[in-house]
Amino acid sequence: MPAVSPVHSRVKVSAPGKLFLLGEHAIVYNGICLITAVDSRLYMTLEAEPSTKQILTITAPAVGLDHWQHPLHEIAETNQVSGPASFIASCVALFHRQFPFNVSLKIETASDFAATLGLGSSSATVATALFGLSSLFGVGLSHRQLFDMGVDAIQQVQHLGSGADLAAAIWGGTLYYANHTPREIVPLDIPTLPLMVVYSGQKAGTVNYVQQVRQLHDSLPHIVPPIIELMLTLVEEGRPALENADWPRLGQLMNIQHGLLHAIGVDTAPLADIVFQARAAGAYGAKLSGAGGGDCAIILITPAEQQLLSETLTHAGYQVLPLSVHATGVRLE
Ligand code: PMV
Repeated sequence: MPAVSPVHSRVKVSAPGKLFLLGEHAIVYNGICLITAVDSRLYMTLEAEPSTKQILTITAPAVGLDHWQHPLHEIAETNQVSGPASFIASCVALFHRQFPFNVSLKIETASDFAATLGLGSSSATVATALFGLSSLFGVGLSHRQLFDMGVDAIQQVQHLGSGADLAAAIWGGTLYYANHTPREIVPLDIPTLPLMVVYSGQKAGTVNYVQQVRQLHDSLPHIVPPIIELMLTLVEEGRPALENADWPRLGQLMNIQHGLLHAIGVDTAPLADIVFQARAAGAYGAKLSGAGGGDCAIILITPAEQQLLSETLTHAGYQVLPLSVHATGVRLE
């Protein structure tokens, strides 16, 4: 395959984080979910440098990488980098196989949000890396091509994942996402969502929780699969509620999803505390968002009631995150 050459010496790109509105965990079982992009972004600068010894250099302070270096041909041949450089290295390997290039690459990331918040820093990293490479070498990959390559890159590193977070990072906005073949990604036209986002103070390991739920699913085949089915019904009913701004209805469905996530063992005391305080303050609904075991809770609540609840939760030691949703997907900066 002929080598591609950079059409720029440097590009800067960014991608948003994400929050699951409904359907987390169920999405893993060829399910469906509703997911929204948040306006907290991961930024990536990619530089091409002519050199005889082609090296990948990564600086990503949020994950402790400072001038991490590795020969590019080894990455492309083996795609077996482990540790914090693995997501970027996996993207570079897959891109290099399809579009071989003969320059050194310098990649630097910076983020609006801490990787510990569970807002999807890995998927934003994959989206920016592939979109950045596509822009740097002028190959014009479509959203769908970025997505398909990104799903492979993530599988290579963590061997699981629904791809919903990656879709949110690439397309942005709010998506109805169906995890069957081919994956269905439907951007939704939604009214402004009155959502509060609160960090529970604990970081969760997505992979562990997905595996833990899988074990429960397989060991209780008459109990957990029907719970997953119910979660899918919540997504089906949640979609029109979201599109029609029927907040009481959407809130009710969010409350039920939280209950089902509790039932499959991924709720925590701090998440439950936030959810109960939110309901007591008059929220339409509240739930944990994502794999559980920590990270963030989301609360559907009128703007008028947000201020008081925000003060109460801050006083209780939680971090209220000033985020808005339905953010723009991957883009050139
Ligand atoms: O913990 P998060 O925010 O990365 O979300 C994980 C969501 C799961 O449905 C549990 C897993 C997945 O791959 O979609």
